[in-house]
Amino acid sequence: MDFDVAGKTVIVTGGGSNIGRAISLTLAGAGMNVVIADIMEDAAQKVADLAVLNGGKASVIKADVTSFDSVQAMVNRTVADNGQVHVLVNNVGWTFDRFFLEKPLEEYDKEIKLNLLSNIYCNRAILPHFVEKKYGKVINISSDAGRMGEFRESVYGACKAGVIALSKSLTREYSRNNVTFNCICPGATFPMSDDEVSSISIFSEQGFGKGMTQEKIPEEQRAKMSKAYPIGKLGTNIDIAKAVLFFASTLSDYITGQTLSVSGGYSMVD
Ligand SMILES: NC(=O)c1ccc[n+]([C@@H]2O[C@H](COP(=O)([O-])OP(=O)(O)OC[C@H]3O[C@@H](n4cnc5c(N)ncnc54)[C@H](O)[C@@H]3O)[C@@H](O)[C@H]2O)c1
Repeated sequence: MDFDVAGKTVIVTGGGSNIGRAISLTLAGAGMNVVIADIMEDAAQKVADLAVLNGGKASVIKADVTSFDSVQAMVNRTVADNGQVHVLVNNVGWTFDRFFLEKPLEEYDKEIKLNLLSNIYCNRAILPHFVEKKYGKVINISSDAGRMGEFRESVYGACKAGVIALSKSLTREYSRNNVTFNCICPGATFPMSDDEVSSISIFSEQGFGKGMTQEKIPEEQRAKMSKAYPIGKLGTNIDIAKAVLFFASTLSDYITGQTLSVSGGYSMVD
């Protein structure tokens, strides 16, 4: 299937590990020119090397999404190197799961910076470029915690709800400039081993999802958690990456301001 993304440039923040890594490799596999922006340059470089090894195009920019100057420099350099950025995937996020009253005050600040302020900064830095080019797709990785609340994720969930609200408001202000804003909400999503990551290729015979397992999670715990998911199993990074590819592609051109849970039915919101 042609997703009509080949040759387009995408920035993936936090593309150096887990979900961001699967997103980067999947988009590179679909022919996109992937710029992996991560605070961990070495991890990002490994992902870029793997993408290139598999025939894709990828490069790395060291960036700290909690610093507006760093984010602006990330956008400026990507535009200077590539001429145009077509897609921005705001993937960086972080939480330490614990009850609200047990969180040290500094942890609130850290969560707000990494989950919400970073998203505001990235949108602020990219939008003038998208508006000028009359083209852009912003894909925000939010969370089901932001749609329905979650134990031990109160501040994180508040930030992720904020990302959804920001995305809707920006839709009202800038979709007329042919810029779309959509959010993807993972549920519990588990990392893949290096071998599993190496097997990611949307053009492989096996197609999506080859080798994705959750064997690193103890069977008992996996079974218990899976019960909360109507589909009966937990998500993988590649499940999220597939939804990102859809929103990056022209298949989603008339979709903006939307929030899609990719969580096996865990969250069902009208
Ligand atoms: N993993 C899950 O179960 C899950 C569930 C729901 C939502 N999410 C969301 O999905 C996204 C990815 O989650 P993940 O589990 O893959 O995260 P992760 O912590 O495994 O990876 C985050 C990446 O972001 C990078 N990063 C951290 N701080 C940064 C900064 N200041 N500037 C630039 N890069 C930075 C890290 O180096 C890392 O490569 C997040 O937004 C998260 O909230 C994850």
